Order: sequence, then structure tokens, then C-alpha cells
Amino acid sequence: MILLLGSTGYVGSAIRRHLEARAIPFHSLSLRDNHRDARDVLLEAVRRLKPQFLICAAGFTGKPNVDASEGQKALCIEANIGLPAKIGEVCASEKIPWGHVSSGCIYTGSRPDGSGFTEEDPPNFDFRHNNCSFYSGTKALAEEVLRDMPNLYLWRLRIPFSHVDNPRNYLSKLMRYARLVDVRNSISNLEDFARITHDCWAQRIPFGIYNVTNPGSVTTRQVVGLLQKAGLGPKNYEFFESVEAFHRLATCTPRANCVMDSSKLLRAGIRLPSVEESLGDCLRRWQPA
Ligand SMILES: NC(=O)c1ccc[n+]([C@@H]2O[C@H](COP(=O)([O-])OP(=O)(O)OC[C@H]3O[C@@H](n4cnc5c(N)ncnc54)[C@H](OP(=O)(O)O)[C@@H]3O)[C@@H](O)[C@H]2O)c1
Repeated sequence: MILLLGSTGYVGSAIRRHLEARAIPFHSLSLRDNHRDARDVLLEAVRRLKPQFLICAAGFTGKPNVDASEGQKALCIEANIGLPAKIGEVCASEKIPWGHVSSGCIYTGSRPDGSGFTEEDPPNFDFRHNNCSFYSGTKALAEEVLRDMPNLYLWRLRIPFSHVDNPRNYLSKLMRYARLVDVRNSISNLEDFARITHDCWAQRIPFGIYNVTNPGSVTTRQVVGLLQKAGLGPKNYEFFESVEAFHRLATCTPRANCVMDSSKLLRAGIRLPSVEESLGDCLRRWQPA
């Protein structure tokens, strides 16, 4: 049996749906409890339920977007660093293998030769570089806290997209934003990501950090082109002149835009369709809200 944390969230619901669809036994547990410490709630649950594997999709992202984390720093620290640290301690003491949803937003840009960041590259969009959003800073710090813990997968998700319209879906966001910035990113199909959280464990691939992005990268203009070809979203898009112009005009926290390399996952035996293949598939199967 798998213990799933954060199953009511955007990412957690996708994992829950995947487990349900495959009839994989799991139990959802929320650690949002104002009266008891998350560690006590979790310890009691794992001793009672005896899970073989734990998936943590709980965390704080900021709503409607990452800007909200700037005004809720205590919550952001507790949910993104304190909570996974406590889960790690419980899993280590109870000898439960587990996986945690991390993020690719701890990087900006690409390697000097234009290739994607690998799991070996240290974050370059974090508190140490003093150039990040508060949210990205907490996700990078959480990796430092967690990375040496035993029997742990750290899955880096990056800009989730899917075939189902949702305010959190990258494709839905592009359809609704009034003005866009043209930037290059590696991105993650949410359904692929959900499948992989279980596959890593089911296939017993080595524990460690994995970039879970669909191979390749895309620019905003390329995705907009695909949306227009599929007859989705506005006919005419307006773009900021540059990233600098966007930051000058829009008062928001710095955004990570980055290229990632997901070949470690492939070498471990888990294949993801390319980003072009996956976007095409989502747009063909598009489900409006
Ligand atoms: N969405 C993205 O674009 C994105 C990208 C990269 C990485 N991630 C990471 O993915 C994880 C989930 O993100 P999401 O987008 O699914 O967020 P979400 O929709 O806000 O859901 C997060 C879930 O975490 C649980 N939670 C929230 N605050 C908590 C707290 N203080 N203590 C304990 N549990 C709490 C809640 O579920 P329960 O009450 O059911 O436990 C909540 O529904 C986060 O770690 C995030 O950093 C997200």
C-alpha cells in the first residue's frame, strides 16, 4: 500500500487519479492539521497503515501564482522545508522508502553550451545566489535538507501541462494571459509525472534526484504556435519585447526559466515522450473546462 500526501492538490490529484486508474492500493493522508504536529500525525499513520512506499505531493506554491509566496514566507518555509524534513525523519526511522515532489524552478537559463541542467548541477536560482523568488529559494533549500536522506526519490517537476483545462495547467494559462513573455523552458506533462512517481518505485530504479521533464525544451512562441494550429486560445497574442521589459512593466517576483536534461530517468529505464510529442497529444485530446 502507498501512502499519498497532498492528494487534494493539483499535482497530488493527478497522482491519485493515476493510482485509482491502475487499481494500485493507496491511502490519502493530509498533514494540514492546526492542532497537532505533522510528525506526530504521520508517525501514528505509518505505524497503523504500514505503507510500503510514501509519495509526498504536499507543499506550498502560492495562489494564484508564485508571487503569493512573497507575502506568506512562514507558510512557505514550513510547507516546503519543515514538512518534508519531518516526513524524511519519520520515513528514515520507520524505514519507509519515499518520494518527494521537488521543482526545476531552482535553475535559470541553461548550461553554457545551451544544454539542459543535469541532476549533478547545483541550483543557480536560489537563496545562495540571491536572485530567486522566495518559493524557488525554499524548494532549493529543501533539496539540500533532503538529498542525503536514505531511500528517497526527489522528482523535479517543471511547469506542469496536461490535456485537461485547469487554471494551474500551463496550456490553460497561455490561453488566458493577456500578454506573454517569450522564454525557453523544459516542461512536464502532469500525467507522465504522476505515472513516474509510481513507476520509479515499481521498477525499483535507484533512489536519488530525477529531472522529470519531457525531453527537449520549447519557447513560449512555439507553444502558442501549436495552440493556434489547434484552434485554441486567442487568434492574436501580444508579447513583451523582452524578459527585461516584462520585469520592468510587471511588478512580480523573479521567474525561473530553464532548460533541463532528463536523460538520467531514461538511463534508469523510464521513457518519457518528447515535449513536442506530448504537447501535440494534449492538444489533440484537449478537454475544455
Ligand atoms: N504546480 C506546479 O506548477 C509545481 C511545479 C513544480 C513543483 N511543484 C511542487 O508540487 C507540490 C504540489 O504542488 P501543487 O501545485 O499540487 O500545490 P497545491 O495544489 O497547492 O496542493 C498542495 C497540497 O499540499 C497540501 N498542503 C498544503 N499546505 C500544507 C501544509 N502547510 N501542511 C501540510 N500539507 C499541506 C494540501 O493537500 P492535503 O491537505 O490533501 O495534504 C494541498 O492540497 C509542491 O511541493 C510544489 O512545490 C508544483
